[in-house]
Amino acid sequence: MNSIANAHHTKRRGIILAGGTGSRLHPVTLAVSKQLLPVYDKPMIYYPLSTLMLAGIDEVLIITTPHDSESFQRLLGDGSAWGMRIEYATQSAPNGLAEAFLIGEEFLDGHPACLVLGDNLFYGSGFSEQLQAASAITDRASLFAQQVGDPERYGVVDMDAEGTAISIEEKPEHPTSDWAVTGLYFFPADVSAAARSVQPSERGELEITSVIQWYLDRGQVDVSKLDRGFAWLDTGTFMSLVEASEYVRVIEQRQRTRIASPEEVAFRMGFIDAAQLLTLAEPLLKSGYGEYLAQIAESALAASSD
Ligand code: G1P
Repeated sequence: MNSIANAHHTKRRGIILAGGTGSRLHPVTLAVSKQLLPVYDKPMIYYPLSTLMLAGIDEVLIITTPHDSESFQRLLGDGSAWGMRIEYATQSAPNGLAEAFLIGEEFLDGHPACLVLGDNLFYGSGFSEQLQAASAITDRASLFAQQVGDPERYGVVDMDAEGTAISIEEKPEHPTSDWAVTGLYFFPADVSAAARSVQPSERGELEITSVIQWYLDRGQVDVSKLDRGFAWLDTGTFMSLVEASEYVRVIEQRQRTRIASPEEVAFRMGFIDAAQLLTLAEPLLKSGYGEYLAQIAESALAASSD
């Protein structure tokens, strides 16, 4: 690829998949999208959105069910307040995660992509660096994997001694490893073509693992291992939702910080400046969330006037 001619096409774009019926959380999700439910002090989607932003991505497509789209738009708007561009699309039937690349083909417009599932929460030190390293590689797919006690619930990647991926399987009955593939995927610019070329699985879905297999067949898959000190949390059941909330509460209270505040990340990534952050803080002061943002903005403004 001629890197100069294609320079405008190397910037990665993000997709958050926030569809699904949330049936494992009924009746809670009968009237509200799962990805809008609170994880302690902020809507669930703030977490995957912050993950994309930490990777340096400021153009994001949010895919929801048709009836939830309006709520997401009310929450996030066009992204301009956070120095971003946020667009919306809908998935009308559960046709599989990889359909995101067909729905999002126009939005991606030939750019490399990062897909994050709207219910995946990541937290740990060194994560931004890992994300930015994966994002910089545009001619290979990058996965993030972590060892879990119940690999049969996930996509499972098997690796050789060098950490090279050798197989990928969706929810295998007899997992070949305990490395679960997390819901965060970096793909080259040809991902929509790859998604179009794979066949639906037996359950009739375009599986993300089939798209990964397509890259595996071409020797183009990297796996970043998330170590045991890293938190990859699930929010799919009542129990795991409460656990994730409690995890966030404990860390935030103990360290007097906020995990996955998009406003803070937008500021730290240079999408907005301190004055803009201060403006964002204003209407949020009553909950304490705004106070946190205001403190960051004020200390940055004080430091710059020194
Ligand atoms: C999906 C993917 C699976 C991945 C998981 C991560 O499964 O199909 O490969 O390991 O997300 O959260 P789901 O949670 O939609 O069943």
